[in-house]
Amino acid sequence: MKISPNSAALSVAALLLAACGPAPSIQPDRVTPYRLTNQAGMEVTLLNYGATLQSIKVPDRAGKLGDVLLGFDVLDGYKGTHPYFGAIVGRYGNRIAKGRFTLNGVEYKLATNDKTNHLHGGLKGFDKAFWRAREAGPNAIEFTYVSADGEEGYPGTLTAKVTYTITEANELRIAYEASSDKGTVVNLTNHAYFNLAGTGDILKHELLLKADRFTPVDAGLIPTGELRAVSGTPFDFTNATAVGARIAANDEQIKLGGGYDHNFVLTAGASAEPALAAQVYDPSSGRVLEVLTTEPGVQFYTGNFLDGTIKGKGGVSYGKNAALCLETQHFPDSPNQPSFPSAVLKGGSSYRSTTVFRFSRR
Ligand code: GLA
Repeated sequence: MKISPNSAALSVAALLLAACGPAPSIQPDRVTPYRLTNQAGMEVTLLNYGATLQSIKVPDRAGKLGDVLLGFDVLDGYKGTHPYFGAIVGRYGNRIAKGRFTLNGVEYKLATNDKTNHLHGGLKGFDKAFWRAREAGPNAIEFTYVSADGEEGYPGTLTAKVTYTITEANELRIAYEASSDKGTVVNLTNHAYFNLAGTGDILKHELLLKADRFTPVDAGLIPTGELRAVSGTPFDFTNATAVGARIAANDEQIKLGGGYDHNFVLTAGASAEPALAAQVYDPSSGRVLEVLTTEPGVQFYTGNFLDGTIKGKGGVSYGKNAALCLETQHFPDSPNQPSFPSAVLKGGSSYRSTTVFRFSRR
């Protein structure tokens, strides 16, 4: 297994950074790529900006390597406007209603960036921050970001660490850790947009979700608080089903999401070790993605807001349903929903979460 900064945009600073930790010559505001490879032919490129997953190249059924992530070839593209391609989102991934919550009797007001709601950490979330990068073993890169007390309205200085590790079993493990000097709320995830064919749309990808219930939403995509059975609805992916089979169904929740943009309640619940949450199979390429997580929920999003205006890798315009996201998480709006698993991090205690993306082929 090898770790090397990507030669395409390699700077001496990046090499020093990967090899010896921060050096005085490093320009912390330069988007710098890091690459992880294994003997099985998997290649992963990460960026210090947003601790972003820039590409994942894995073999198809014929053994041909292909990139399964939406994003940009030109790294500065990540600094422009885009919907969180491959980025770590935080401090709170997903929505908080009206950008408000009360903790220990104090009401906190967050930045509102999704109509009247707070989404994915606010106006300048963790996706728009430079993270410090460090080699964390022969096959791992650790990114650290310190979010100041009051940033985007959140209480407490939060130190967040995200470590990406690849294995010879073609797994990418993402380990999240955080600690705060004051009580706060935390919900970290990665917003990778997957297209296992590397082209076209994901409507023929077959999805299995280990979830018997989901959290229906209102018009602002805020959960109503109900945990609704998926059985008999277009949200039933307990048996592998093509993503496009029911995406245009005459269903109130599908209409509110403009497709799928919902949190699924994982049957395993929050677990100590990552448990299987989802499996995606693309019949055209033969690629399979399995998502395992310690989180209690996963946001299944079918790229409904992609409208062709963003030109990504290879100059391709990304249209509606060009990719799907499986964002492992605590449920949206948990800070305002006492019946949901709590996303509160007490001052002095630590947050841990692990998600694994495991690739194979059929
Ligand atoms: C998440 C949300 C979507 C959308 C995307 C980014 O998946 O649930 O509604 O905001 O992020 O465009």
